[in-house]
Amino acid sequence: MKRLFPFVRMALPEWFEPAVEKVWLKMNDDATGHDFLHAVRVMELAVDIASQLGADRDIAMTAGLLHDYYRKEEKQTGRLHYGLEAIDGLRREFGPLLLPHLEEVRFERVMDVIARHEEYDFSRGESGGIQLSLDHQIVQDADRIDAIGAVGIARTFMFGGVHGLPLVEDGSLPDAVFDPTLRPQGSVYRHFYEKLLHLSNGMHTIIGKRIASERHQFLVCYIKQLKHELMLEPGDLDKYN
Ligand SMILES: [Fe+2]
Repeated sequence: MKRLFPFVRMALPEWFEPAVEKVWLKMNDDATGHDFLHAVRVMELAVDIASQLGADRDIAMTAGLLHDYYRKEEKQTGRLHYGLEAIDGLRREFGPLLLPHLEEVRFERVMDVIARHEEYDFSRGESGGIQLSLDHQIVQDADRIDAIGAVGIARTFMFGGVHGLPLVEDGSLPDAVFDPTLRPQGSVYRHFYEKLLHLSNGMHTIIGKRIASERHQFLVCYIKQLKHELMLEPGDLDKYN
């Protein structure tokens, strides 16, 4: 069965279409910024980076598409969308569709990329001091690029709205540290400082660094204007340039 999915630009292998359909059915009505189109953008960017670096395109494509599949459950149950239970769920739901085409060892590489795609450690400097394989680096770069620039700003407001975060908290300080294992807290403004402004420094690949640098400049410019309109002190945004 051939089906055209909205906004999918790359030519999908026929064997992969049932997986895309399954993701579309689950994620197309998401309003948190982790919707089907986010999965598609990450998938396509990851494939593009993998192609340029001579890495495994199928692993990039599959991990990019599936990396946020259990976000909806996470919001409802608090169980992490990349935790052991989620990875077992992905094996159950997608193994029968994908294993005939991706041999087991590559399928498990996909599972490992998803299990570690949320590893952040902004306190350890560039790339977070975390050792990741090229497959991990590619998908993490693609996912982070979708969290900065105009799209990243739009997604942050969607996320904040769904989770009931205010635009800015009283006395909001830009020194919060992001922890993906905790429920969202604070404000959208704080999320810019605790996560978005740090993402471009953590890029791994040369391609990711290039794209992120441009989007980061736009993000800094946007936050400057936001602070100006909110009549907040300009602060030390220049250190993020
Ligand atoms: Fe994501």
